[in-house]
Amino acid sequence: MAEGGNSRPVDALFRPLRAGRLSLSNRVVMAPMTREHAQNGVMGADNVAYYRRRAEAGVGLIITEGTWIDHAVASDRLAIPRFYGEDALSAWKAVLDEVHQAGGRIFPQLWHVGMIRTPQSVAWNPERSPAGPSGLGFPDINSPRTEQISPPMSRDDIAAVVQAFGQAAEHAYRLGFDGIELHGAHGYLIDQFFWDLTNRRDDEYGGGIRERTRFAVEIIRECRRRTAPDFPIGLRFSQWKSADYEAKLVRSPREFEQFLEPLVAAGVDIFHCSTRRYWDAAFAGSELSLAGWTKKITGKITIAVGAVGLDQVHQTRRVEAVAGYKAQPSSLDRLLEMLERDEFDLAAVGRAMLVDHAWARKVRDGNWAELLSYSTDVREIMY
Ligand SMILES: Cc1cc2nc3c(=O)[nH]c(=O)nc-3n(C[C@H](O)[C@H](O)[C@H](O)COP(=O)(O)O)c2cc1C
Repeated sequence: MAEGGNSRPVDALFRPLRAGRLSLSNRVVMAPMTREHAQNGVMGADNVAYYRRRAEAGVGLIITEGTWIDHAVASDRLAIPRFYGEDALSAWKAVLDEVHQAGGRIFPQLWHVGMIRTPQSVAWNPERSPAGPSGLGFPDINSPRTEQISPPMSRDDIAAVVQAFGQAAEHAYRLGFDGIELHGAHGYLIDQFFWDLTNRRDDEYGGGIRERTRFAVEIIRECRRRTAPDFPIGLRFSQWKSADYEAKLVRSPREFEQFLEPLVAAGVDIFHCSTRRYWDAAFAGSELSLAGWTKKITGKITIAVGAVGLDQVHQTRRVEAVAGYKAQPSSLDRLLEMLERDEFDLAAVGRAMLVDHAWARKVRDGNWAELLSYSTDVREIMY
């Protein structure tokens, strides 16, 4: 263990959580991570085993890799699984059944990439241009410089995407998933509406931070309408974007309230507050983390994420690809202390669980010496 070792009991991480229909055996969440192992948008047997292994090792809640909704430009890569079509949905049902048999819980992460359809890699409807609030895309995905690529989405375009999210939620509900997570983070479509750099609209979908939540609000309402009043709906959001780690949707608790209030009113049950370091103070003048502020403002279940159990933060593929890049296991003391104080409810684990399917079991049993390091090389073989 690189950083200080572990001295606290891990009980806070292994307490159950019950809220309405949701019943989790512990507070460990597997963070959504794209694997690109699907064929023509359909997952195979190795994906089923991949999720089952993590459920068997005692993960409380699995949030799946992003899976695309039924819209012509929701994705660009056929190695990413779809969440529509009988073939893709029956593969998801196999994942769901195995995870449930192993005692786990699972939400699909519903995704539309919006303007982040990289022209070089479009294998799905390559003739269609990407969709976004103002048609602004990023010529270099690692830089926050935008360019006009498509026309802004029309009201009909918006309505079609809202419908497609609702339809995916209905599939999840009917198949028996334990809830859904809407991918509203990291600069993808829902976040492109949240972010003032990519949302320059002057209709009811643009303007101040409250108005920029309207697209998400309509999606959440549609998902609720097509599922059940107590079906858990999660929303992942982030300040940071793939194109700009320093980006900010909100700069003060006051603005943050304006962002969260309409989302809560629309029916979000769980906020997944995506940060690169779960412990970072969200705003000047307080030590409270983004997940901490979210819980304080909304009273909803919150998930913290970002470098849990590793000594290096998540970077772009380009940085991680540098030879010798390695993240070592690190102490969980700070996380445990924050969970003990109920600053947030759940802790999502990304790369540490990608490299090590038995992460939850090892932590529960105190087998610290057996935890694995993460590097891009191991990521390629994610077992
Ligand atoms: C290989 C990889 C794929 C990812 N794919 C997704 C994704 O599909 N959806 C998403 O919301 N975040 C995705 N992320 C971000 C993770 O969910 C997580 O927020 C990030 O890795 C930080 O957590 P960590 O420090 O524990 O790895 C991905 C991260 C990695 C490393």
